[in-house]
Amino acid sequence: MTTQPTERTPITSAADIDLNDWNFWGRPDEEREHAFRLLRDLDKPAFFPEPEFSLGGVTGPGYHALVRHADILEASRNPEVFCSGDGGATNIPDLPAEFAEYFGSMINMDDPRHARLRRIVSRAFTPRMIKQFESDVDAAASRIVDELLETGPGCDFVTEVAAKLPLKIICDMMGIPEKDYQFVFDRSNIVLGATDPEYVSDREDIADALLTAGMELQQLVQDLAALRMETPTDDLTSSLVNANIDGERLTAQELGSFFILLVVAGNETTRNAISHGMRLLTLNPEQRRLWLEDFEGRAPRAIEEIVRLAAPVNYMRRKVTRDHEMNGNLYRKGEKVLLYYWAANRDERVFDDPLRFDILRDPNPHVGFGGPGPHFCLGAHLARREITAMFRELLRRVPQIEAGEPERLLSSFINGIKHMPCEF
Ligand code: HEM
Repeated sequence: MTTQPTERTPITSAADIDLNDWNFWGRPDEEREHAFRLLRDLDKPAFFPEPEFSLGGVTGPGYHALVRHADILEASRNPEVFCSGDGGATNIPDLPAEFAEYFGSMINMDDPRHARLRRIVSRAFTPRMIKQFESDVDAAASRIVDELLETGPGCDFVTEVAAKLPLKIICDMMGIPEKDYQFVFDRSNIVLGATDPEYVSDREDIADALLTAGMELQQLVQDLAALRMETPTDDLTSSLVNANIDGERLTAQELGSFFILLVVAGNETTRNAISHGMRLLTLNPEQRRLWLEDFEGRAPRAIEEIVRLAAPVNYMRRKVTRDHEMNGNLYRKGEKVLLYYWAANRDERVFDDPLRFDILRDPNPHVGFGGPGPHFCLGAHLARREITAMFRELLRRVPQIEAGEPERLLSSFINGIKHMPCEF
């Protein structure tokens, strides 16, 4: 990969598209939309060699870019052929062994190890459990808007609003005290934003920066776990390290990598959904009016529509475990496929007028939380709850709030907004 985005040439055909090129990921939304439409219209998924950039693991033959909704559903439903382990699901190059210590949680595993971990932690994420959190989420959203009103217009919506809610909720769930929020926030930015020069200035340092951030987050939660083993409280850390009714518990290493997964999966994604949502409501004032007419009644569909277009997780990876034909195309053992959720959420074969932001859209079978299968987002209920609470407070108390031009994260993995001014 080239190191920094430089001048861009126009994309006139699929042959002009190189998903390994950082210049591509620096392009504005309209150009990305055009490019992925060209890729969706190809007879078969485009194949790219592995990027030159590597974290030190083995370099494979390359990856198929799955950009159609139908391909993503099919691959997600078939984890025996399209696996998440064997090098990881969150990165194109395989993760070398030393990364597994920190980044080897269930998202990068297959059953039965995946199923065991998911069973232990999923008790905390059922709709019933999330319901118990409702008043905490609502109170936190309300406080964030109090602070926004105190700070006044002109502030950074991402850091002052969108990032605060998911960070507080995850830290509260785990029992991390408020004094450590900034520490967690900075490390999670490094883990998901390492390819952006704002977070790691030299590409040569990415592997070290990731390992250091992973180690620091793990240390934080393991220190807390030691306290909770002695004196349990009602937080998630206590219930994960002390045996549950079935006698199951997480080991110290499992707890560390699960916490890192929660912090990055729960923070950056929800933050970006809220920021993209604010931008979409600014660009579409008639949709904002529609939502305000019946906030509660229209919230469930509006949230799905925000997640569809935001698609904060641009892709997840799978590795092909055996030669396999899917939707008329051959996938060979050892190759990788990238499930481009952002692109599938714009597939005109499934969504009418896919680029239109329509808070009443129904049906809306988007794959923003992943495809149907064992890895479907564990935090989807919580994320929906958080996004709803944030917009309820914002639209009621600051109904005229508008977002300015977003400053985008340079990343092929996360569809992120780093900073965005807001006025009201
Ligand atoms: C709008 C917000 C969110 C989006 C767009 C999102 C997206 C996703 C996606 C696409 C996956 C699928 C991974 C795969 O198939 O390989 C996933 C998995 C996951 N998400 Fe989320 N997520 C969000 C919020 C959250 C929150 C709030 C949490 C927790 C606090 C969370 C925790 C997880 C976990 C633990 C997994 C892994 C599940 C597994 O491997 O079994 N996510 N998420």
